[in-house]
Amino acid sequence: MAPPVRPRSGTARKEAAEAELVLCGRAWVAGRLQPLEVGIDGEGTIRAIGRNVRGARRHDVGERVLLPAATDVHVHLRDPGPEAEVETIASGTVGAALGGVGLVGEMPNTEPAVTSVERLEEKEARVRGRAATDVLLYAAALEPRALAALARRAGGFKLYLAPTTGIDPAPEAGQLDALLAELAHHDLPLAVHAEDPGRFRTGLAAVDPVSWDERRPVDAEESAVRRLLAASAWLRLHVAHATAAPIVALARARGVSCEVTAQHLLLSNASGRDGRFKVNPPLRSELARAALWREFAEGRVPILASDHAPHAALAKALPFDVAPSGVPGVQTTVPLMLAKVGEGKLALDVLLRAACDRPARLLGQPMGRIAPGHRANLLVVEFRSRRPIRGAQLRSPCGWSPFEGFPAVFPVEHWHDGERVVDGGEYVGRPCGRVVRPEYAPGAAARLPPPERA
Ligand code: DOR
Ligand code: ZN
Repeated sequence: MAPPVRPRSGTARKEAAEAELVLCGRAWVAGRLQPLEVGIDGEGTIRAIGRNVRGARRHDVGERVLLPAATDVHVHLRDPGPEAEVETIASGTVGAALGGVGLVGEMPNTEPAVTSVERLEEKEARVRGRAATDVLLYAAALEPRALAALARRAGGFKLYLAPTTGIDPAPEAGQLDALLAELAHHDLPLAVHAEDPGRFRTGLAAVDPVSWDERRPVDAEESAVRRLLAASAWLRLHVAHATAAPIVALARARGVSCEVTAQHLLLSNASGRDGRFKVNPPLRSELARAALWREFAEGRVPILASDHAPHAALAKALPFDVAPSGVPGVQTTVPLMLAKVGEGKLALDVLLRAACDRPARLLGQPMGRIAPGHRANLLVVEFRSRRPIRGAQLRSPCGWSPFEGFPAVFPVEHWHDGERVVDGGEYVGRPCGRVVRPEYAPGAAARLPPPERA
């Protein structure tokens, strides 16, 4: 295996050696779009950036822009699982590539769940030869004694504080302390589904997204996040799917990473009444949604993720109380936000930090910026090429989207390690995705700097 490449500082470095491939265009480098040439070596690593880079092959993207590919730290590819017609590692990662994502963090609540080294190895074997993007595999943090062996192999841990699809029950208070104490020994990202089931109003009927929101209120998220903040500062903590501005503020105040999803940014509990709008944690009120959008648009949310959780359309059409929770999104999250950039409602800088740079840093990967030493995982984007999302046309076999009709800007091209995997908006790649694990720089702090300083 090639040694890990550490990102180097500086951007306009000239290299004597000729690049294998040079991509030319308006590239997002050092926080702005600049007419530049990006030299890529035979290993798919960016080696030179400048006004005039020599190379064997050149590809000029014209007026289109060159952006870093995104990292989605939170997806559920359902593989292994009984529902291959809903999603698989193959289909989900092709969807990711079409949506501008070059690396996904795959959650462990598959069937069976990833709770042992054996299951982790089985999942690794499924990724190899099938995945279109790189995949980081999370293991479930359920049993303290299993963690040390899992930590030697996993890309991260996922801790569910509330029961959810495929993982039940949540740890008791005493068990949680033991889990967190053990996890602090392992330098891996710890993504947490932070809802405190003690705060759920289970007596309330769940008939629509408004009553689902009342039943699993924001208080339950706040209680769970406070519980986590009391844990060791050595943990590389990441709060998954924060749904409200106060939750983001709480995490940020302590330097803890958190993510928001497109569904909590763009949909509210008034967007629809049926099971397609059932998700955990729930969609909130329009007022709360608007406040979360402000946090995000003003650059105060570290990470954007999809929580891609496809379920069959038939299952989502069941009565609300029995419909499964979760919505698909790996192919649409970045395109929805690129459309917001095109509309002037979101700064490109804010989006790229949240979708590319910070998630790659959380997962310890040399990507997410166009910089020497970073992998040549790049997108070619044309902001004028907006089109409405049609669930039936997305790559996921689940065949629906909660964002039906929303405008989106899908990347025209996607380059993975210097190889074109999407061309003209179509997938043209091969299953070249690898299983990756974090490579943190020695001494790198476990807690992210607050977004303002990141
Ligand atoms: O809505 C959700 N769906 N929330 C989760 O925590 C799990 C996910 C799923 O796997 O379906
Ligand atoms: Zn999830």
